[in-house]
Amino acid sequence: MYGSGEAKVSEVVLAYSGGLDTSVCIPLLKERYGFDRIVTVLVDVGQPRSDVDRGNQRAKLLADEHYVIDAREEFVKDYIFPLIKANGSYEGYVLGTAIARPLIAQKAVDIALKKGIKNLAHGCTGRGNDQLRFEAIFRATDCRVIAPMRELDLAREWEIDYAREHGIEVSVTRDKPWSIDENIWSRSIEGGRLEDPYFEPPEEIYGWTKKPDANRTAEVVEIGFSGGVPVSLNGVAMGGVELIERLNQIGGEHGVGRTDMVEDRVLGLKARENYEHPAATILLTAHKDLEHLVLSRAELRFKVMVDEAWSELAYMGLVGDPLYADLMAFLDQSQKRVNGSVKMKLYCGQAISVGRKSPDALYSQDMVSFDSQTLSQKDAEGFAKYHGFQARLLQRKKL
Ligand code: ARG
Repeated sequence: MYGSGEAKVSEVVLAYSGGLDTSVCIPLLKERYGFDRIVTVLVDVGQPRSDVDRGNQRAKLLADEHYVIDAREEFVKDYIFPLIKANGSYEGYVLGTAIARPLIAQKAVDIALKKGIKNLAHGCTGRGNDQLRFEAIFRATDCRVIAPMRELDLAREWEIDYAREHGIEVSVTRDKPWSIDENIWSRSIEGGRLEDPYFEPPEEIYGWTKKPDANRTAEVVEIGFSGGVPVSLNGVAMGGVELIERLNQIGGEHGVGRTDMVEDRVLGLKARENYEHPAATILLTAHKDLEHLVLSRAELRFKVMVDEAWSELAYMGLVGDPLYADLMAFLDQSQKRVNGSVKMKLYCGQAISVGRKSPDALYSQDMVSFDSQTLSQKDAEGFAKYHGFQARLLQRKKL
């Protein structure tokens, strides 16, 4: 009930990207939901500058209050670096969108808490994973959660008309209907004709990678790691954001890091997805390679399971699950020895490790070498006698 004649203003915080869906949400939250004030929160996780600028401009036009938060450093340190430690990958996809959502959602929650606003909205549809990722964070508060896209079940065509009526200039057209989600780690392209899994992606969908070209000279880059995370490029110490941006650029020139796949969403729907992620491909390939030099065989076997479980949680946006913290404890401990550097050759869409070294290597050139006398080969004979002993016993019985 309103007190002493003064009408209570109803406010909502909207996680805002500046794209079509979230822009349309602003007038919808007023017209269909009756909110008086819309507070938009745009989180910069390394999407193109032009997207951030467009979002700020549209927010100025449509929203009542707007926040832009540069979260790039935090995104890399608290989300991408753990992902590298876990060799994060879901069904072969390097996890770009998934890993950014909890941070974006949390920033919206922080603003709502600071301003005492009890309503949180996002612009995700009811078909994808992102609604689940946002709400896993939103619902940890006692705020009301509003998902206009899902609740009003709007068609794209309707949205485009509605946007135009509200002065939102629309860049998606019938022939370029791509829905693009971008952050510093990956660029994802969906929609339009790509929804036919048999349709070959046209070159124009790619924004970060050139078409792989066999005539282009190969290039070798050296990645330095400390504690399981990348710290230098070609011997020059570098912060995470800059290093990833540089590798996206260099790798993109060689067409490294394109993925075209059919992916199983959390809801169970299969979806055709296209991704670009040059830095992710280079860094994950190098990291895994270095792990093989420094971790024990037992650690490597076990870590495959940890990596898989971590990736599943990250994909679902369940970074708040206690298992996530449990897995991180194992990852942080095991990564202490993942120090050293890896040479990566970039050529015609490929990123291949061609050399690795580490002060923590569990590798003895002296013992393994064909030319060495350190170990007596005869010592292995006893081992060989027992190896496969049970299988031989059974074979003999069958005869
Ligand atoms: N399928 C991916 C995921 O669920 C990416 C979705 C990105 N969205 C987009 N509009 N392209 O993580």
